[in-house]
Amino acid sequence: YEIQLASQLVDPSQIDVTFDDIAGLDHIVDSIKSNIILPLKPIINRHLRNKSQYYQAPKGVLLYGPPGCGKTMLAKATAKMANSRFINLEIPTMTDKLYGESQKLATAVFTLAQKLQPCIIFIDEIDTFLRSRGNNEHEATAMIKAQFMILWDGLKSNKNNSGIIVIGATNRPQDVDLAIIRRMPMRFEVPSPNENQRLAILKKLIKDEDIDKSVDLQYVAKNTDTFSASDLKELCRYAIYTPVREKSDMLIELSESELNEQLIKTSISQMRKVKFKDFDDAIELMKEGKKFLESK
Ligand SMILES: Nc1ncnc2c1ncn2[C@@H]1O[C@H](COP(=O)(O)OP(=O)(O)OP(=O)(O)O)[C@@H](O)[C@H]1O
Ligand SMILES: [Mg+2]
Repeated sequence: YEIQLASQLVDPSQIDVTFDDIAGLDHIVDSIKSNIILPLKPIINRHLRNKSQYYQAPKGVLLYGPPGCGKTMLAKATAKMANSRFINLEIPTMTDKLYGESQKLATAVFTLAQKLQPCIIFIDEIDTFLRSRGNNEHEATAMIKAQFMILWDGLKSNKNNSGIIVIGATNRPQDVDLAIIRRMPMRFEVPSPNENQRLAILKKLIKDEDIDKSVDLQYVAKNTDTFSASDLKELCRYAIYTPVREKSDMLIELSESELNEQLIKTSISQMRKVKFKDFDDAIELMKEGKKFLESK
């Protein structure tokens, strides 16, 4: 059963997200570093856990907040910096099994984590897995949930497991079972970015781009109220792609070899710079797209 989980196991070297990629969430990043990453370091862990039972990372951490604001990124960057294995628990793999199978798989998650520690068990969209006990809940799912919680509690009673933590993420915290919430005593709200945070995110998103001095990021940040970080990323994609899009009429009908010729002639350096208007147009377009969400 541990082998079945191999596809969900990620080595920290394979993770391509670092805290440097995350903007506007400095207070959360600082707290994660001192409260979670530091006590997970194997040498510190071994040294501290013998001094006091309280010198350890929390067993459960909840990241909650609206979509596209950095929850999954934070979990990955944490594993990367802690140099910790990361079990990206995919819910369907756990629950789509025959009854006994699921239970063995749940046990395997914890025995595997124990062998690999430091290890982060990451449950993205934890509301779907461990949803509040509804009346029409499948009995088997309820059993797995109960068993999962028992295994999780087992982490607490055994100090040799101090290198294992569960991180859950959700944008529907109200749907997560209270029993689960209780097991995630350290909670971080990852909010929709405010103007300053949007500015920080935009700066990060365009740092390697060739952009005209006319682009006033402060203005963009000011005029993108309600945009999430992933909305801002899409905004940048649309704006920065504009010089290429303008050549679309000319390029789209060409054959492969004609295209090749054209692309050699019009090298990227000959693409015009991205201007302020490109961003302004992108803001308008995205706002138009958001209207549909507001009407829902
Ligand atoms: N704080 C941030 N700084 C820079 N980029 C960000 C930030 N938050 C999100 N992004 C960008 O948005 C994308 C989506 O972020 P992420 O997957 O972490 O969102 P999420 O909060 O987990 O959303 P969901 O609730 O939908 O799972 C990231 O891949 C990244 O490109
Ligand atoms: Mg996510």
